[in-house]
Amino acid sequence: MKLIVTGVCGFIGSNLLKALLKEGHNVVGIDNLSYGSIENIAPFTKDENFQFIQADLCEKGILDQTKADVIIHLASFKIPRYTNAFQTLEENNKMLKVVIEKCIKDDSKLVFSSTSDIYGKNPDLPYHEESNSVLGPTTVKRWAYALSKLYAEQYIIANHAECNLKYTIMRFFGSYGPNQNTTWWGGPQSAFIQNILEGKNIEVHGDGLQTRTFTYIDDTIQGILKCIFNPKALNEIFNIANDASEEITIIDLAKTICKLMPESSKSIEIEMVPYQKFGKYEDVLRRVPDIKKIKTMLGFEPKYTLQEGLKRTIEWQVKKHSVIA
Ligand SMILES: NC(=O)c1ccc[n+]([C@@H]2O[C@H](COP(=O)([O-])OP(=O)(O)OC[C@H]3O[C@@H](n4cnc5c(N)ncnc54)[C@H](O)[C@@H]3O)[C@@H](O)[C@H]2O)c1
Repeated sequence: MKLIVTGVCGFIGSNLLKALLKEGHNVVGIDNLSYGSIENIAPFTKDENFQFIQADLCEKGILDQTKADVIIHLASFKIPRYTNAFQTLEENNKMLKVVIEKCIKDDSKLVFSSTSDIYGKNPDLPYHEESNSVLGPTTVKRWAYALSKLYAEQYIIANHAECNLKYTIMRFFGSYGPNQNTTWWGGPQSAFIQNILEGKNIEVHGDGLQTRTFTYIDDTIQGILKCIFNPKALNEIFNIANDASEEITIIDLAKTICKLMPESSKSIEIEMVPYQKFGKYEDVLRRVPDIKKIKTMLGFEPKYTLQEGLKRTIEWQVKKHSVIA
């Protein structure tokens, strides 16, 4: 099968590329390298089944260069904590339109990367695909990311109704692992590991009792492959996440990572940073997925506990750090 992957040099994109090439597919990857890195795709640049286009997706005519059965749209601007709301809203929307137009023109299926953030602060847990989106006020910039993805989901579904767009929407819950950005852009686990490696204290925001349910990248990729290739995934939405039993508070995540890096974390302290430091900010206090739908319809089964996934991630990040240092 021929597939286009946008954001191919990013964390999920590069791991997906590896899996698709392994299965013998033909992949065209696009990335403007705003956040991803060429290193992430370096092992595959000579593969005859892979073509890389370094460009901004919104550049006129970029997608005209190619045609595919499926477009997996991963490129996106995320809002790290309290800034970049304009870019998040503007760029995510522009990219979405370009990709949808292309899918409709070529009758390609769109596989879209949405987020657990669209459930917002809904107190009814766990979150299943029909759960409500409960976002905070528009004056809190952090909701711009969730809003851009909510708009995208509605726009995709509207295009299905009006123009017969074929789609699958995936809602990721805190995916982590090798090739991830090692700053806050990659999430708390990336930042915590990196701080320890650089001998800096770990910053935990708020009281640290907010929870997340993290998903190791190989499990995320298993879910994405099912969304791309399983015919039952057509025109459906799926949570892609670990089991709800893996829910953990952020303070315990920090402590777990310290325990897994006993030597390097000896002199590291955990510093609590009040949310007020970020201006007008709201956090999601608990985030717990319901993955019954993807399990029963597509046969998805997460394989990695948080402990196991963190060990693998730390191993990768230590290696990366030692090359740079
Ligand atoms: N990683 C997670 O846990 C998670 C959770 C929820 C949703 N998502 C979504 O999954 C997708 C992939 O996430 P990721 O963690 O791999 O992010 P990432 O930032 O590592 O990768 C995104 C890639 O898109 C590229 N990009 C951004 N704007 C572009 C543009 N205009 N033109 C071309 N390339 C562009 C970046 O350079 C980067 O390589 C995103 O849409 C994200 O919103 C991820």
